[in-house]
Amino acid sequence: MTKITVAIDGFSSTGKSTVAKQIANYLGYVYVDSGAMYRAVTLYAIQNQLISSDHFDKKGLISALNEIDLLFKFNPKKGFAEMYLNGKNVEKAIRTMAVSNLVSKVAATPEVRKKLVQYQRHMGEHAGVVMDGRDIGTVVFPNADLKIFMTASAETRAMRRYNELKERGDDVSYEEVLKNVQERDHIDTTRKDSPLIKAEDAIEIDNSDLSLEEQFDTILNLVKKAMESK
Ligand code: DC
Repeated sequence: MTKITVAIDGFSSTGKSTVAKQIANYLGYVYVDSGAMYRAVTLYAIQNQLISSDHFDKKGLISALNEIDLLFKFNPKKGFAEMYLNGKNVEKAIRTMAVSNLVSKVAATPEVRKKLVQYQRHMGEHAGVVMDGRDIGTVVFPNADLKIFMTASAETRAMRRYNELKERGDDVSYEEVLKNVQERDHIDTTRKDSPLIKAEDAIEIDNSDLSLEEQFDTILNLVKKAMESK
């Protein structure tokens, strides 16, 4: 069967990665979480004192980019690929609030984007890929066979993220998470390089009131249509 490229973009915590993983597993496609790469670079910057809440050594990070080796390794137990930073599994470490609070600043750096976009294009060379992020349909794969743009209110997204973090045992408040979601929305949509915008040919899905099942079915139908018309 013809393999297609699926780009899923949208605001933070819209559940893009959940549905992207489900679709990729269902079709036997590769799933790529591009946000994990920006998070891993941010973790590197934190670990090397290049960024904190009141300081960002952008030049230092740019010159360290060659030292940052990112790799996705499939974990059969989990059913998706986990992020490795310089040989170390950082899948959990990149999901903390410390990283979430700083990642948008790192992701607004053009040199970082250039490096990661190259890697993302390389992974999507042979189609059969579902990639989620902010600029997948606009910059990384402007010719993707199917582009989806996911939205939900900031409050709905903050509540989902808050529940996830609580479940993991993180000590956070809902207000803190909502503030982070709103700040990231602002930085992601207003940055100069590859801001988060809906591609003209993307299909918008507001999942505020959709169950996971309804969301999966909606997107799978779109995938099937895209395959038929390829
Ligand atoms: O999807 P996420 O929340 O894990 O993404 C983390 C951050 O990375 C997000 O605030 C914006 C940035 N990002 C980006 O700029 N471009 C992408 N393709 C993916 C993520």
